[in-house]
Amino acid sequence: MNPPDADARTLARTFLEQTLSAEGNALMLEHATREEVVRRLAAARRSVGAAAAASTDGAAVLPDAEVGPGPAVTEPMIGEAPDLDTLAALVASCSRCTLHESRKNAVFGEGAPNARVVCVGEAPGAREDETGRPFVGRAGRLLDRLLLAIGLPRKSVYICNVLKSRPPRNRDPLPEEVAACSPYLLRQLALIEPEVIIAFGAFAARTLLETKSALGRLRGTVHRYSGYPVVATYHPAALLRNPSWIRPTWEDLQIVRRMLDGAGDREAGIG
Ligand code: URA
Repeated sequence: MNPPDADARTLARTFLEQTLSAEGNALMLEHATREEVVRRLAAARRSVGAAAAASTDGAAVLPDAEVGPGPAVTEPMIGEAPDLDTLAALVASCSRCTLHESRKNAVFGEGAPNARVVCVGEAPGAREDETGRPFVGRAGRLLDRLLLAIGLPRKSVYICNVLKSRPPRNRDPLPEEVAACSPYLLRQLALIEPEVIIAFGAFAARTLLETKSALGRLRGTVHRYSGYPVVATYHPAALLRNPSWIRPTWEDLQIVRRMLDGAGDREAGIG
């Protein structure tokens, strides 16, 4: 059931106000430190290296401990990654497109490996590139709040991007970069098996749904990506620039909430 309009407006306004005044406030959830992430990646990479060395099919052998660009990661290697840690190790060493030359860190994604909801953004920005973590800048803090508003603490969902490396100066991703990186997203989804994917922003929505339609036409309903239900909505960074989009974003997130609560497609607002 939708909350009354006035409540929705108040909540929507509260998201923005809190976010704008909340740099570093207590709602920032605990996150793994960069050191922990690198340690986990190195360990995962060692296990991929061992698996590749043991395989008889001539698959590329990954260098051992260092996390950095290595030999080509092939699509079968991605498709056969048995878990998220292994996949993250492949991303950390990936040179399938030229973005590995300029990135500081690959940004694989993070969150609950069995999350009911996967949030997909466009590509890492400067802060994400620095930290190796998705959605950690201002837009990320707003994302955390939007999710909390539908009862989903950041740690309960999985957050990632279409691209795992930052495009220089945050330019739009190129088709060849999307093509090179998409198998990772596909494998992430296959390993997590979410109940709902939220595509944040026109780029993520258009990429997942293979359409050129405007976000305004894609939002408000439920689509499918590789069999998974997809709800498309505005990107948190766009909301920071355009507070009037908070209201429709709130409505889109209510669709997600209703889906998680077990509403049937029609009841959840599908189609
Ligand atoms: N914008 C995105 O699309 N992804 C991030 O991780 C950060 C900002």
